[in-house]
Amino acid sequence: MIKKIKPKKKPWVCLTAYNKHIAEIIDPYCDMILVGDSMAMAYYGFKNTRSIGLSEIILHAKSVRMGVKKSIMVVDMPYNTYSTPSVALKNAKKILKETKCDAIKLEGGYKIKNIIKTLIKNRIQIVGHIGLMPQAVINSKDYKVKGKNSYEENKILKDFLTLQELGVKAVVIEAVKETIANKIQSLSSIITIGIGASKKCNGQILVTEDLLGMFDFTPRFVKKYSNVKKTIQQAVSKYAKDVIERKFPKMKNVY
Ligand code: KIV
Repeated sequence: MIKKIKPKKKPWVCLTAYNKHIAEIIDPYCDMILVGDSMAMAYYGFKNTRSIGLSEIILHAKSVRMGVKKSIMVVDMPYNTYSTPSVALKNAKKILKETKCDAIKLEGGYKIKNIIKTLIKNRIQIVGHIGLMPQAVINSKDYKVKGKNSYEENKILKDFLTLQELGVKAVVIEAVKETIANKIQSLSSIITIGIGASKKCNGQILVTEDLLGMFDFTPRFVKKYSNVKKTIQQAVSKYAKDVIERKFPKMKNVY
């Protein structure tokens, strides 16, 4: 559970996973693994995160659960699954029961305060998500840094303070001006997890496929630590050549 971990000693390493195999590989290095609705884009190739529903996230989370031994496992509540406190409670309970995750993540702050209150009253551990909230973005061109004016800055701070006051354990802060992330950090007694925010956050999160280099497009907040797309292309082109030249299968590959 989140409360058992002492957050401020060492930065939290957080990544996404959508299946057991990736979860197993990343678990030894992570403090938190998120079954994110980013899977809609990073795994399924849809235009935004809204295409993932409750049944899809639960299926993927069940798979991830098999690969996570030591990290905290968090599951995203998909778009439209927490429209009212009672809908949110029913769906959150279903996610927790079926996936055995440790906490759920919801996007929003002040606007969803009654939903958060209800979940916390029912002892559900929550990770918040403020700043850029992908479920509000329909077209990829609208992925824009938040906090560029005082209205946005005040909104982000209000969202954070609301979540902190309500008893949320950790908050993901996505794509906000660094000065705002630092201000949040100075006001924070809970765990802050940055993605395009600040190195001063208590942890950092990335979509695993982004850091592996699966895609051509790299947002500013991503550092590619590998080029898996190129590795796959090279392997597949060698395989195709072998098949065409009848070099595969060899004796040792047949029965
Ligand atoms: O869905 C997701 O993967 C996320 C992370 C990018 C924080 O929300």
